[in-house]
Amino acid sequence: MEDTMALQNDLTPVVEMKGITKHFPGVTANNQVTLKLYPGEVLALLGENGAGKSSLMNVLVGLYRQDEGEILVRGTPAEIHSPKDAVQLGLGMVHQNFKLVETMTVAENVVLGLKHLDFIPSFSEICRRINTISRQYNLQVDPRAYIWQLGVGEQQRVEILKLIYRGADILILDEPTAVLTPQESGELSRIIAQMIDEGKSAIFITHKMEEIKRFSQRVQVLRKGETAAVLETSKTTPSELARLMVGREVLFRLEKKICCPGEPVLEVKNLCASNEAGRPSLQDLSFIIRAGEILGIAGVAGNGQRKLTEVITGLDRADSGKVVIQGKDMTNRTPLDLIQSGVSHIPPDRISMGIVGDMSVASNLVMKEYRSEPVVKRGIFNYKEVAKSAKEKIDAYNISTPSQNTEAKFLSGGNIQKIILAREIGACRGLLIASYPSRGLDVGAMEAVRLQLIDQRNIGNAVLLVSEDLEELITVADRIAVIYEGRIMGEVPAEKADIKIIGHMMAGASLKGAAQAAAEAELGEDGI
Ligand SMILES: Nc1ncnc2c1ncn2[C@@H]1O[C@H](COP(=O)(O)OP(=O)(O)OP(=O)(O)O)[C@@H](O)[C@H]1O
Ligand SMILES: [Mg+2]
Repeated sequence: MEDTMALQNDLTPVVEMKGITKHFPGVTANNQVTLKLYPGEVLALLGENGAGKSSLMNVLVGLYRQDEGEILVRGTPAEIHSPKDAVQLGLGMVHQNFKLVETMTVAENVVLGLKHLDFIPSFSEICRRINTISRQYNLQVDPRAYIWQLGVGEQQRVEILKLIYRGADILILDEPTAVLTPQESGELSRIIAQMIDEGKSAIFITHKMEEIKRFSQRVQVLRKGETAAVLETSKTTPSELARLMVGREVLFRLEKKICCPGEPVLEVKNLCASNEAGRPSLQDLSFIIRAGEILGIAGVAGNGQRKLTEVITGLDRADSGKVVIQGKDMTNRTPLDLIQSGVSHIPPDRISMGIVGDMSVASNLVMKEYRSEPVVKRGIFNYKEVAKSAKEKIDAYNISTPSQNTEAKFLSGGNIQKIILAREIGACRGLLIASYPSRGLDVGAMEAVRLQLIDQRNIGNAVLLVSEDLEELITVADRIAVIYEGRIMGEVPAEKADIKIIGHMMAGASLKGAAQAAAEAELGEDGI
């Protein structure tokens, strides 16, 4: 593949991967891939779920060993046999699924694996260094906090801090923003910009087109393990990239037929709940979702969304108020009761809650059908039916897996998400609770999932869609309610939704106040 930047041909790349091939049982994750990263640049790595992005980067940092090909770091052939070798070469990676040890502190995680160094500083010295980096990069983290006490945004900061602490100057960021709020993503872009200013280089994996524009100078597109194109970011467009990635046109707008709501399916009445510390996390929440309707919940993560979905699905308890499903009081019932009353749940944290990694793809797909026919007949497991049902779902959701029997943990991040979607949407009998369903999906899969949600509504199910992506809420939902500090600030019909007004409500304004603030801001803009 020819490089597009003539100027850079004179520079020695900081990383050059030549003809990398990596096989796994039943799949070739990378086939003769060549990649160059130049000093001081951000290269975006783009591709469908399962295209081989994480595998290629895992080869670069010594987690996987390539079957063919060679790697040069700063012009010198490098033998990278372990992450330790990678650290010594100045390579650092933030993984798609964080690799932090939950029961250890931030400081312990930062130095974990650095034992080969001759000198290990004391705990207080490590904390002092972490605090210095925190100040320098405005990365707020308490070095003495335990990982399990931190939210995903903070965990992400720890991962970045780990890279800086270890002196990495070649950064590999595998979908670092997939689990972040828009505010946290903004913070991350500031930190990346600062690191690039200091002369570091980065490979940035993302599915979000606007991030490719914001962060990168060049973009390399992988398709089915091979390089489909290397382009200058400023000379390409989201639709060209989408086409190169998935090999077809991707609609960025969805058609939706008019919503015809039926009977109430979910009624939430004056719901109150509190967190572990006893503070209120849901405060007097009320709303109704009818059959054939999608209610979107907009809000910055951490404002009670998780509590709300967990109370509805029986995973957590309400202090007071009611959850009524299809006319039946289901408040504080068990998760099994709720599953049996037709509730499906796409959880926000797909790895720890959504799948059993050591079980096969097929078992994960039919997990919700274990108690009913035809998967179980007269108490006996019908393996033929399991295989049939799994195959249907693999085809319908385009899940890329070597076979049904592959353990789920070996699938790419996006394909794991597709397993959960296929199982939960497939099992929905009335109410579907979907939290951030398109996280980590490529543009093609994202479009397919949004269509699936709309389909569920069209066939008469009620859908609760929790998302931070306002575009997604506006295109998919029928009504949008905004949650802030556990309260509903107001509700608007999606077709009349104004992103600015919703933004103000997400920051705590009432509907009226938000409309006023948005109007004033507009006047201000006109006046300039
Ligand atoms: N450890 C492994 N064992 C077996 N197969 C693997 C392993 N790691 C990756 N694969 C396979 O390699 C292929 C490429 O996966 P990879 O994780 O690199 O995709 P990706 O481009 O990062 O996708 P996503 O956007 O979903 O994260 C997939 O088919 C995946 O199942
Ligand atoms: Mg990946």
